[in-house]
Amino acid sequence: MARGYAPGKVILYGEHAVVYGRPAIAVPVTEVRAEVIVEDATSRPGITLYAPDIGRTVDLESAPRDEPLSLTVRNTLACLGIEVYAHPLKLTIHSSIPVASGMGSGAAVATAIVRALSEHLGRPLDAEAVSAIVYETEKVHHGTPSGIDNTVIAYEQPVIFCQGRPIAPFHAAKPFWLAIADTGVPSLTKAAVADVRAAWQRDPVRCERIFCQIGMLVDGAQRAIEGGQVASLGLLMDCNQDLLRELEVSSPELEALIEVAHREGARGAKLSGGGRGGNMIALIEPGSAERIRRALIAAGARSVIVTRVG
Ligand code: MEV
Repeated sequence: MARGYAPGKVILYGEHAVVYGRPAIAVPVTEVRAEVIVEDATSRPGITLYAPDIGRTVDLESAPRDEPLSLTVRNTLACLGIEVYAHPLKLTIHSSIPVASGMGSGAAVATAIVRALSEHLGRPLDAEAVSAIVYETEKVHHGTPSGIDNTVIAYEQPVIFCQGRPIAPFHAAKPFWLAIADTGVPSLTKAAVADVRAAWQRDPVRCERIFCQIGMLVDGAQRAIEGGQVASLGLLMDCNQDLLRELEVSSPELEALIEVAHREGARGAKLSGGGRGGNMIALIEPGSAERIRRALIAAGARSVIVTRVG
């Protein structure tokens, strides 16, 4: 028997623009996680995946080629050079990461599958191999993913991510705290990314200007995080949110939570991930965390996670 775990994630700055080659900053969120248990099965042949929390069972044999859970298992076996795996296996999946919320639940479940399965087969894969397998699963979830979600989750450390560049972990010179509030509205990343692409095709000059501004802002955020200038991080979040609004990926529910966070003294707030729903993040003082959490819940947030970065 083997177990694999993976954390959730939030994007601090740079979502959407990262799909167009700009940098973005993401951190793992360890307060929530996916867990996969792999055991030798006795009751049925083949490889079966169970997700009892959502009442799903997937048989590897009969699943469509692009079904994300079985695709992840097949790609893991292929990476290990196993063409046919003769022993019956049971994979049980649990996750406390809210689904379709911008917290990388699909990538985390896939990461936990790869980790548990490769461990069970006696050949645990390193973060680079895990990330590459999960990227293939992300393509099914998101269409044209930048690769940031699989990277931050598989490496399990804060990263500055830019397509085509080596992964750059970063260190926060001073810790800072985030409140992550779930609107409860599903964030359909694939649809949001497709709509941004359509806007970019219609008016590339306008969209490239926005992506450029986001990219510059991410560079500034990196300098501020590494230099311990926490005070400027809030303003940078607000500026990033202005640009995401221009890309039309915000929503009334996100805006309502952002307004409450500001009213309660957050230093900055923005959507995180694909947008249109999902989570809002706010830069907060640890002393005001409980007050802000209560205000966000009162304003309709389904859940609020407080996490420390650095
Ligand atoms: C999704 O977490 C972040 C997006 O930038 C899409 C991507 O990077 O693949 C919206």
